[in-house]
Amino acid sequence: MSRTIFVTTALPYANGSFHIGHIMEYIQADIWVRTMRMSGHTVHFVCADDAHGAPIMLKAESEGISPRELVKRYAAERPQYLNGFHIEFDHWHSTSSPENIELSQSIYKDLKESGLIYSKTIEQFFDPVKGMFLPDRYIKGQCPHCKAQDQYGDSCESCSAVYRPTELIDPYSTLTNATPILKSSEHFFFRLSDPRCVEFLRKWTNGQSSNGMSHLQPEVLAKTREWLGESQDSEASLNDWDISRDEPYYGIPIPDAPGKYFYVWLDAPVGYLASLKAYCKKQGIDYDDLMDVNGSTEQIHFIGKDIVYFHALFWPAMLKFSGRKTPDNLHVHGFITVSGEKMSKSRGTGISPIKYLDIGMNAEWMRYYIAAKLNASVEDIDFNPDDFMTRVNSDLVGKYVNIASRAAGFISKHFNGQLAYVGNTDALITAQKDAAEPVRKAFEAREYGRAIRLAMSYADTVNQAFDNAKPWLIAKDIKQANHEQKAQLQDICSRALAGFKALTIMLAPVLPNLANTVANNLFSDETPYKWSDISSLPQQIQPFKHLMKRVEPTHLDALLEAPEEDNNQALPGGEAIAETIDIKDFMKIDLRVARIINCEHVEGSDKLLRLVLDVGEGKTRQVFSGIKSSYEPKDLINKLTVVVANLAPRKMRFGISEGMVLAASHANEKNNPGLYILEPWPGAEPGLRIT
Ligand code: 2FM
Ligand code: ZN
Repeated sequence: MSRTIFVTTALPYANGSFHIGHIMEYIQADIWVRTMRMSGHTVHFVCADDAHGAPIMLKAESEGISPRELVKRYAAERPQYLNGFHIEFDHWHSTSSPENIELSQSIYKDLKESGLIYSKTIEQFFDPVKGMFLPDRYIKGQCPHCKAQDQYGDSCESCSAVYRPTELIDPYSTLTNATPILKSSEHFFFRLSDPRCVEFLRKWTNGQSSNGMSHLQPEVLAKTREWLGESQDSEASLNDWDISRDEPYYGIPIPDAPGKYFYVWLDAPVGYLASLKAYCKKQGIDYDDLMDVNGSTEQIHFIGKDIVYFHALFWPAMLKFSGRKTPDNLHVHGFITVSGEKMSKSRGTGISPIKYLDIGMNAEWMRYYIAAKLNASVEDIDFNPDDFMTRVNSDLVGKYVNIASRAAGFISKHFNGQLAYVGNTDALITAQKDAAEPVRKAFEAREYGRAIRLAMSYADTVNQAFDNAKPWLIAKDIKQANHEQKAQLQDICSRALAGFKALTIMLAPVLPNLANTVANNLFSDETPYKWSDISSLPQQIQPFKHLMKRVEPTHLDALLEAPEEDNNQALPGGEAIAETIDIKDFMKIDLRVARIINCEHVEGSDKLLRLVLDVGEGKTRQVFSGIKSSYEPKDLINKLTVVVANLAPRKMRFGISEGMVLAASHANEKNNPGLYILEPWPGAEPGLRIT
């Protein structure tokens, strides 16, 4: 039966470029959407910019532009990422659109009518210099429990205590350093504690949708059961939700409440509906019919594990009690780390998706690798460069792509591109169907790693059959071959190419571009492939053209080595000064004078020099530094410099780097490539501490 499915990914804040975590989520969703479309289901796949909130307002202000302009700037760069990674949303909208304003306000009115909105006056910290109420993340102070300095307004990073900002000792505003004052103001609340909400949420979180799938994954359900007081050691204590913010705020005005705006997290998920609505209008689809509360459209949200509370509690309750259709499934994923490290913009960690594309790496390598690592749980996945290279080169290229190049040559050369099978082909078609169906099922169940393993094991089968039949022996003596032997050669190669086509269909959700190329240029098939195409064996091919290159170590060097440019911090005049830290933070960094004992080029790297340093420890250290563009190794030997001596050793492609040499550089290294290594004044000695 054909299904109609509405699919979203989380709406990204429009105050930064996409990072690899965004791309992972979009790839995950895109693979699923393609899988379902290949089965003939109708899928509407939309997203939008999350345009509102204090961080966007403040960032725009610091750059002297309007929030709208800021959002526009980031929106303008979205397509190159999405097209680059073959992520095909049907529509991309914005939460500041007329559709979202209208929908957010009407959902609010409906909730009010259901008696779930109330207002009360609360006291909150206010920055008297800036003239605004301070969100928790802009307030810091001493932890009331462990007394650690400079902890955020909501929780302590040192002892993990959770508290209210008003409990902080000596609080200060991170915007102006001013001491915040308590000021009262009227706020609007969504009564999540209402028994109707709790009852509904208990039912919904434990429920299943018409597609037979639980609304939530088991790990996610365990979390919501805790929040809803269903697990043994917890009590239901849903707090009402503060949904209003006072001006100045960049958001949607609350009806009949001058100076009050919806908190960004109220209108953000409504943006899913707004985007769908705008898309429907463009396509001539009846939105109200599509999203009818009793209709059969499935609603599925792909999100990260950090925003479950909003999507598993607030969002279904908002929809339910405003009389709308509730979500069918949340598909929650974990984070992506790079070589085991959490993403960070500091030197050497994280990978920039745009750089990945810029240096000519194939987007489908990344799609394949991410698919191979993902499953239906909320576990984190790791991007490991060596693993990436092995999986792409040995599996994707070595096992799958190579089948075509091995078999196609013989068919073109000796049979003018015509395929022919000896005997009955029913068993072959059945074998292909039997191989593809579990792959399709695994993709549908979001067990992508399993789908890839199954496909690769079928590739092994196809390769083995080809190897065992040794077609090259017949081809070598083709002049002597009799009719039967020729037919045998043609059959062996035809079966291999049929296997290749079947694998192309199995991998099409992950490798859509390659699948289309294969369909168009090799088999002259219609695109895009559907699962049902598995039953039609190829009958002829066009001359084989190379399909996919291998990953080279130089790709990964280029991807991983260079420091990531921090566009977010770039100001017209240079780089913004980082957030204020206190002396204790500074003292955590152990800076030492070091002598450069040796310095040399690193073979295969166009950025790095390898330095051997004496830091006064009675042994030397190896440090890799991205300063090749500015220095000749021989000019550095025997010079003194400054090194971060207590930086955790980092594994790089060429070895372990045990520290970091300090060098000055421009914010935008592309336009201003100069680097300047630091050198202490004469008299300093290796090992002296710099304070
Ligand atoms: O966490 C975030 O990046 C939010 N912008 C996600 C919003 S998802 C949805 F609710 F819009
Ligand atoms: Zn603490």
